[in-house]
Amino acid sequence: MNVLVTGGAGFIGSHIADRLLEQGHHVVTLDVLDSYYDPAIKRHNVQRCSDAGGERFAFVEGSITDEQTIRETITHHDVDVIYHKAAQAGVRASVKNPHKAHRINTTGLVTVLQAAADHGVDRLINASSSSVYGDASSLPYKEDERLRPRSPYAVTKLTGEHYCRVWHDIYDVPTVSLRYFTVYGPRMRPNMAITNFTAKCLEGEPMEIYGDGRQSRDFTHIDDVVDANLALLETDAADGEVLNIGSSDNITIVELAEHIAKVTDSEFALEYTEPVAADARHTHADVSKARAVIDYDPSVSIREGVSSFVDWYRRNREWYEPLVRQS
Ligand SMILES: NC(=O)c1ccc[n+]([C@@H]2O[C@H](COP(=O)([O-])OP(=O)(O)OC[C@H]3O[C@@H](n4cnc5c(N)ncnc54)[C@H](O)[C@@H]3O)[C@@H](O)[C@H]2O)c1
Repeated sequence: MNVLVTGGAGFIGSHIADRLLEQGHHVVTLDVLDSYYDPAIKRHNVQRCSDAGGERFAFVEGSITDEQTIRETITHHDVDVIYHKAAQAGVRASVKNPHKAHRINTTGLVTVLQAAADHGVDRLINASSSSVYGDASSLPYKEDERLRPRSPYAVTKLTGEHYCRVWHDIYDVPTVSLRYFTVYGPRMRPNMAITNFTAKCLEGEPMEIYGDGRQSRDFTHIDDVVDANLALLETDAADGEVLNIGSSDNITIVELAEHIAKVTDSEFALEYTEPVAADARHTHADVSKARAVIDYDPSVSIREGVSSFVDWYRRNREWYEPLVRQS
């Protein structure tokens, strides 16, 4: 198949591209190499895909908001399926610059959807987020839970889900939105708790905790996220739907810090800072819908996955850590 991965130089997109290439597909990734975090990590990701894919891989440096680039890429590569992962990720970034998040996450998505409709792609798999729940009334979250986004980022992700459903319903583009619950693993975004805590512990510095640290997260390992995405390549079972993609496991931020201190053999030292008002207090996924529809079966527990991330971090410290520190 010919597959376009937008945001394919980023964390989740590059892992999806890796797996598609392993399976023999033709992959084009499109990414603007945004400087939200050090673009050297993104160039590393593109180089990996290029080494693995050879002539089955192409990279386009460009923006999803640039209609001509999107149309040309889809047509030139005769794209069958789009994994749409390009975004301004991150709740805090959207609070600082809501216009940027809106422009990329909603205007960019509409540009891709329109081009997908005109080309007649078989499916578009959209990256949504658990942040659309805000502070929902009961845990774990089911897809039909009340939605009350707390940040500009979350609003853009919910808007994106609605756009995808509408393109499915009236423009005949099969779309699926996946609500990811904080994804982690090798080459993850630097500005997230798991990377920050690991870097701080290995340097012998205190870990920075926003608020009281008793907020909890359903952290999802990248391998489970890639499995969910790849399951959607050829099935129409989830078209027009929204699915939770979480680990269904859960940990508080202080417990996470304790675990990382333990696996790095470091002192457990914390530094508390102001809570972030736009963050949800807890996230926890009910994945029964994804289990029923696409046989999704999250296999990596948080403690196990974080330990294996720390192993990866140690092995890749030389190139990754300076980029984490600069981001
Ligand atoms: N990582 C998580 O925990 C998580 C959780 C929920 C949802 N998501 C969503 O999953 C997707 C991937 O997230 P990620 O963690 O891999 O983030 P990431 O920042 O590593 O990847 C996003 C990529 O999009 C690219 N990009 C930004 N603006 C662009 C533009 N205008 N045109 C083309 N490319 C552009 C960036 O350069 C980056 O490489 C995003 O849509 C994000 O909102 C991620």
